[in-house]
Amino acid sequence: MHAATQGLTGADRAFAVAIVSETLRWMVDLDALIDGATAQILPDDVKSRAVLRIALAQLLVLKSPGHAVVSTALPLVDGGPRRLVHAILSRAQQEEWQLPDRATLPLPTAERWAEQWSLPMVEAAEAAWSAPPPIDLSFVAESGADEWPDAVSLAPRHRRLPRGQAVETMPGYREGGWWVQDLAASLPARLLGAGEGRTVLDLCAAPGGKTMQLAAAGWNVVAVDSSAKRLERLRANMERTGLSADIVQGDIRSWAPENQADAVLLDAPCSATGIFRRHPDVLHRIEPRQIEEMAALQAELLSRAARWVKPGGTLIYATCSLEQAEGEDQVSTFLDHHAGWTIAPAGAEELPEAIATDEKGLIRTLPAMLADAGGLDGFFVARLRAPSD
Ligand SMILES: C[S@@+](CC[C@H](N)C(=O)[O-])C[C@H]1O[C@@H](n2cnc3c(N)ncnc32)[C@H](O)[C@@H]1O
Repeated sequence: MHAATQGLTGADRAFAVAIVSETLRWMVDLDALIDGATAQILPDDVKSRAVLRIALAQLLVLKSPGHAVVSTALPLVDGGPRRLVHAILSRAQQEEWQLPDRATLPLPTAERWAEQWSLPMVEAAEAAWSAPPPIDLSFVAESGADEWPDAVSLAPRHRRLPRGQAVETMPGYREGGWWVQDLAASLPARLLGAGEGRTVLDLCAAPGGKTMQLAAAGWNVVAVDSSAKRLERLRANMERTGLSADIVQGDIRSWAPENQADAVLLDAPCSATGIFRRHPDVLHRIEPRQIEEMAALQAELLSRAARWVKPGGTLIYATCSLEQAEGEDQVSTFLDHHAGWTIAPAGAEELPEAIATDEKGLIRTLPAMLADAGGLDGFFVARLRAPSD
């Protein structure tokens, strides 16, 4: 995405982002149309296929004018199969090609999710990623949210707006009363409740969505992340919202705090397959091997994080993944190896309506949840209690 938007600003940048996003979202269906129109299947990595994908995404999804699409696409294949590309784009317009109602998931993802969850889950995921999701805002204080009467509130300090607005131009952005955060991503910090001056270690904290929530809820936050660049964004976010935290750059495989904390929140690095609505590239690039590698890293980080919780304290483990290996399986392995630790299930009053814990007390958000209200990212959240001594 970075390469596609380099040097662009404003409307040009937004258009480039839309072309890339919609191409990735609809790529399986765009490829089916391309393959149906060529005598020989174009290799996956040839330029002509890439050009056809982005041109068809503009024609069929973004509804750009045909002449503009053709005249910007053809120079991209100069010295190559210009005639083929021209012929396919002309056919698409003459025959009024249509995309299906739902964007098809890449086959390996569909198979993996059907096996782990169910076929209806795959269908719900396809429906969920067929259009960009709405914008969820988290507020520093409930009073700030009153000024958004047209937005829907699905939880305290939360407002949901229709997609398509530029965040920086929305009211109050500079004043810093809110930040963008999917409702599902706000659940881990919600489970820690009010801080009342107690200390929480926010591990893997950048760019700081959960740090801001915790600081706003009265926690003394120590925010740790290994990435200097992402910590810059965290710092800017804290500054904009007027919230504070101790910010530490450290790799938590080697870094350790001086003292144990009342609570630890580990928002572990993961495959990020749960945020596929916003980042459709994820499903094209994540493979089982990466999920395995992430799961191994998460197990290491989780067991280190557990050492830093005071006796009787709380550990939140979260990932924005729809893979059980990065969620349910992590917790069950953790409990097998950490005597005395238990799951502390969230009560209904702690969760937005329509989100409940599973039979073990764990939170798993899936694409069908709140579908009629704009859906949710796929998240896994466990609240774990340390033994008392
Ligand atoms: C899911 S993101 C965190 C999102 C963040 N908690 C929020 O709410 O905005 C995961 C973060 O983990 C960090 N990370 C990955 N490996 C790490 C490690 N070994 N030690 C510390 N941070 C790490 C990454 O730099 C990344 O910022």
